[in-house]
Amino acid sequence: MKVRRNGNGAVAKMYEHFLHIAPTYGMFRTTDLAPVVFIANKMKRLKSGQAADVGCGTGRYGLEISKRVGERFHLFCVDNNTGMLRYLRKNFVENGISNFTPVRSDSHMIPLQTDSLDCVVSFNAIHHFSLSRFLRESSRILKNNGKLFVYTRLQDQNSRTIWGMHFPSFARKENRLYELEELKQAFETDANLNISSVKMFEHHRVFPLERLVEQAKNHHYSTFRMYKRHEFREALHKFVQNILDHYDDLDRISWKDQNTMLEIENVQ
Ligand SMILES: C[S@@+](CC[C@H](N)C(=O)[O-])C[C@H]1O[C@@H](n2cnc3c(N)ncnc32)[C@H](O)[C@@H]1O
Repeated sequence: MKVRRNGNGAVAKMYEHFLHIAPTYGMFRTTDLAPVVFIANKMKRLKSGQAADVGCGTGRYGLEISKRVGERFHLFCVDNNTGMLRYLRKNFVENGISNFTPVRSDSHMIPLQTDSLDCVVSFNAIHHFSLSRFLRESSRILKNNGKLFVYTRLQDQNSRTIWGMHFPSFARKENRLYELEELKQAFETDANLNISSVKMFEHHRVFPLERLVEQAKNHHYSTFRMYKRHEFREALHKFVQNILDHYDDLDRISWKDQNTMLEIENVQ
């Protein structure tokens, strides 16, 4: 397994990062609906119940799930960042969703009862967690036959994004993401959690260069925090040059993003 930057210093730096970007997070990230529809369809089989979105951020995915499953499900929105949870509350209220509870907690010590949830979801967050401890905690709070859905960018998928291909050192610096085999191994070592399906999602992106520069400057991926200030400035300059070299229409820079969804069953 690769060495991950999850020492105390790195954890504190990421906490500050998410606190800082909470007000603008929703403006600079793209929310994909296909994984939401996938999960909502699976949840349709259940008449009612309780679910948790762990590492929920400002709630953009939890909100879309809540809109689709309606009042039948209560959603616990779990994140360790007060800034992210403040904006989550605002987003849910503004969208008229009331059946949710923000929970400030670490992903490995969630203050919810054992065997209490039908479903746990986590979007774009597991690379920030202690994976084995998060899995153990998910298994504890899930009911028998409850489902865990993990949506993430894999390490190799990250290297094929516009940033991985053209932003200097982006793919190398982002060493927290997992490869599929690593994730499978992690689940094999957990006695209760069994992978029932692995699904790849592909999203066709078309953005103007101006928007990409704005995203990077606003650190829409936490990877950009791993650059020193002058290093980031030089890398951004080189990124723009690389785009100019590879694309003719600067209003329509296109590429395909890929993500992976793991559907996991809790069997006790
Ligand atoms: C990249 S954001 C993803 C947010 C959201 N799921 C989304 O896709 O918009 C990662 C989130 O995980 C949270 N986070 C990081 N480490 C955490 C931990 N150990 N326990 C709980 N939340 C954590 C961060 O505060 C942040 O909101």
